[in-house]
Amino acid sequence: MTSSSMALYEQRRARLAAVLGPKGVAIIPTAPEQQRNRDSDFLYRPDSYFYYLTGFGEPKAWLVLTGDGKSTLFCQPKDLEREIWDGFRVGPVAAPAQLAVDAAYSVTELDAQLPALLDGRDAVWYPFATHRALETRIDGWLGSLRARVRFGALCPEQQRDLCGLLDEMRLTKDAHEQDTMRRAAQISAGGHIRAMQLSARMLRQGQAVREYHLDAELLHEFRRHGSQYPAYGSIVAGGANACVLHYRADVGAIRSGDLVLIDAGCELDGYASDITRTFPANGRFSAPQRALYELVLASQEAAIAATHAGARFTDPHEATVKVLAQGMLDLGLLDANKVGGVQDVIEKRAYFQFYMHRTGHWLGMDVHDCGSYLEPSEVGSVSERKDPLSGELIKDRPARILQSGMVLTIEPGIYVRAAEGVPEQFHNIGIRIEDDAIVTDTGCELISRGVPVAVAEIEALMRG
Ligand code: GLY
Ligand code: MN
Ligand code: MN
Repeated sequence: MTSSSMALYEQRRARLAAVLGPKGVAIIPTAPEQQRNRDSDFLYRPDSYFYYLTGFGEPKAWLVLTGDGKSTLFCQPKDLEREIWDGFRVGPVAAPAQLAVDAAYSVTELDAQLPALLDGRDAVWYPFATHRALETRIDGWLGSLRARVRFGALCPEQQRDLCGLLDEMRLTKDAHEQDTMRRAAQISAGGHIRAMQLSARMLRQGQAVREYHLDAELLHEFRRHGSQYPAYGSIVAGGANACVLHYRADVGAIRSGDLVLIDAGCELDGYASDITRTFPANGRFSAPQRALYELVLASQEAAIAATHAGARFTDPHEATVKVLAQGMLDLGLLDANKVGGVQDVIEKRAYFQFYMHRTGHWLGMDVHDCGSYLEPSEVGSVSERKDPLSGELIKDRPARILQSGMVLTIEPGIYVRAAEGVPEQFHNIGIRIEDDAIVTDTGCELISRGVPVAVAEIEALMRG
């Protein structure tokens, strides 16, 4: 780790320590390894909170941070025989110098050391409901400490959820994080361009194209630029498959005349990108495809214009819905005689037949990143309403006010399943356009536009 990276993680730990209070202590384990099948594990990925505070990617590691700013790392001990099989370990002797922690022990020492680290603290903080059996282990350490009260041990009286504190820190991305996210988005954009171009080229050459051909292009581009893995399961959906929101790249045929929806982004050094593009498999939009595409694009433009510091998180969604609702009436997807005007479509949620998800989410280390969607200073202000479709009682609280440095996706879509009363020319068309935006004081910076969205630009790109 470079000294500037070390300083970054030290600063994050110091910021967290300052909010724990002088007598607080935080316990943060990394993620467990996960078996895929016999003798074979899923590719390892550290826990986001742990990595955010340490930059340490080995499994079987724990960070204990006390309110006085002292950090203790528990990590795998050096073991030359295991390292032959599994790879290099930093080990507790080298860890303080390499990771700028104050002390380090073998993870086998956890049970021996933790009671002493909890002794005399007033509150123990850990991420609630995140790591299986973590509460049980902490109970065990507290129990050991309690057994020593006759010898002067002092047990913490409070257990507190660490997620809220860390979520708030992670919600606003620092310069280092923004830079990593820009690079991740740029790599992903390159993957989308390659997939678009391959689709048109293979069809021009009369080859049979399948979704996995395009998926392979994405993976190739991600990995060749040093991305560790896709940030989530890539969606490569040909034709009607695009109307399945959680479809995955599979064996479906990519047919000339169909649209292809690709939702894929790489993860780079712990940070996700999340891009969706929808394009004609052969490089030319048909008239109905184009009409729907232009509508989704216009709704995305409205959402982008509504994304700036001071706006609410829900503003881009509301801007999207207004444009889509009007467009659904104009294109005859919704019948004004049945559903009324645009305000009725919005109030009764009639647009939900074709647009059933939100327009964005936080983006960061996790693709659906942490951070409250409610404005912390206004959570006490609650109103209740009945959902017009389900009749469910919904509690509304004021949405988060966007601040410079927050990162979110802007991803409107339209998904038209075949149904009575829906013009046939639109049947089985699914479109989403998704970009990644860093909020700025005056607007937002779209970091994923290395791959274009305009019809003419996509068609030009695919002419090859
Ligand atoms: N790819 C996940 C999402 O768009 O939210
Ligand atoms: Mn997304
Ligand atoms: Mn996505």
